[in-house]
Order: sequence, then structure tokens, then C-alpha cells
Amino acid sequence: MTAQQLPTRRTVLNSAGIAAVTLCLGGCAAATSGTSSTTSGSSGGNTVKAAEIPVGGGKIVGSFVVTQPKEGSYEAFSYLCTHQNLPVQEVTDAAIVCGRHGSSFSLADGTVLTGPATTALAKATVTVDGDTLTIS
Ligand code: FES
Repeated sequence: MTAQQLPTRRTVLNSAGIAAVTLCLGGCAAATSGTSSTTSGSSGGNTVKAAEIPVGGGKIVGSFVVTQPKEGSYEAFSYLCTHQNLPVQEVTDAAIVCGRHGSSFSLADGTVLTGPATTALAKATVTVDGDTLTIS
């Protein structure tokens, strides 16, 4: 093989880029095809069955946290922790928890229970329609 037959650096990089994009598309599709019951509604909100939200607890639904602090009373917040704007990871029967640096937030109103966050989670809107909650 002569030097003229060897692929140029640009050709190699282009091929690698195409391969990476192809792998990402396949992998990303697989990553988003889980069994989550969360769907996007026509209004751009997320929906979840009310029965999936435990009394005295909650669930992360799309980019929101939905809680039911008292039976039949639903609240929703952005899932972005106000410390560094990263997603919270867990909802327990005591709090909405961001395990990145230890902040936790009230199930009832999203206020800070423990820092380092100093600001409440951003409030979202829950609309109840039968047994379905739409969060936006
Ligand atoms: S990003 Fe949540 S505690 Fe730091």
C-alpha cells in the first residue's frame, strides 16, 4: 500500500464520527424504550396514573416530581434541584432527595429541608382528570 492509498486523517475521523452517531442513535432509542408509564400529553405536559403516586410520597415523572402529601391532594415541582440545577434522584416518604450533595425538599411545598440548596423547587401545575394526572 502506498502513501496515496492510505486513508487521510479526515477520512478516518469522518468514518469514526458516522459510526459514533449510528451507535448513539441505536443506543438512545433502546434507552428510551423502557416501560415507563409516563407519557407526554398534547399540551406538552406529562401524564401519570394517580394510583402510581403514593400517599405521603411521590414519583419522578418526566422532568417533574409529583407528590401526594395528603390523600387526594397532589403537588408537582420541577425535578431540577435548585443547588446546581441537576435532577433530583429519589422521592421517599419523607422528602424529595437530591443525592448529589444531600439537599432534600418538602413533599408538600418543595421548600428546602436540608441544604446545600437554599431555594425551594420550582412549582409546577397538576391537573386531575379522572384517574390521570397531567403535570405541566
Ligand atoms: S445539585 Fe442537588 S444538592 Fe447539589
